[in-house]
Amino acid sequence: MIYAASNPEDELQHVQHHHRFVEGIKYTGWKKERVVAEFWDGKIVLVLPRDPSYAIRKVEDVQELVDNELGFQQVVPKYPNKTKTLLFISDEKKVVGCLIAEPIKQAFRVLSEPTGPETPSSKECQRAWQCSDVPEPAVCGISRIWVFRLKRRKRIARRLKRRKRIARRLVDTLRNCFMFGCFLSTNEIAFSDPTPDGKLFATKYCNT
Ligand code: ACO
Repeated sequence: MIYAASNPEDELQHVQHHHRFVEGIKYTGWKKERVVAEFWDGKIVLVLPRDPSYAIRKVEDVQELVDNELGFQQVVPKYPNKTKTLLFISDEKKVVGCLIAEPIKQAFRVLSEPTGPETPSSKECQRAWQCSDVPEPAVCGISRIWVFRLKRRKRIARRLKRRKRIARRLVDTLRNCFMFGCFLSTNEIAFSDPTPDGKLFATKYCNT
């Protein structure tokens, strides 16, 4: 984040931004929250575009943090009235995961990269994925998926042999609640312009 150290307004914004980045965003709970999944370490809440302003404000706050981290600038959803946002709320009452999804009609499969000693790894390639130009039917597009950095790919108590898998649980829950009465297959979901981490996650999740 760019700021002028001598400007009190910028200073305050910087402190607030830093605090959110390090501490995460608090969630104290709403009377009318829509809990779509419950776990041993938290719950997932669904927020829809016509929800009360306090819920929308929370989503905007989280989205701002996520977009800053992803380097996304003003990504406008194709169907703003049909966007579904899932927030993973931890036991400590913090937003530790976010998934934003929208309806889509088609998607383009990422082509597998050639591998060899001369070929840079997927991380080094950054975001230059090659996609097929043949559209395939799809139902649900994940425009953003994000997990608070301290909760990524984490194990909780080793003896319980339970991994955090917050992103996996967010996508599982999305597949269950995106369309009433059906559980979407991995072929019906697509990830929008994934980051290297997003691509590694999607490849593992979709088994592709
Ligand atoms: N490298 C390799 N494998 C990975 C990675 C990775 N970076 N991230 C996840 N996986 C694998 C895990 O090993 C796991 O496999 P398993 O279930 O067989 O054990 C599986 O994917 C599920 O992983 P989770 O633990 O559920 O993933 P996590 O909670 O750590 O979140 C995420 C993954 C969302 C990509 C996280 O790393 C993150 O927030 N990154 C920064 C933001 C980002 O880049 N988001 C994607 C943007 S693209 C988009 O939004 C469409």
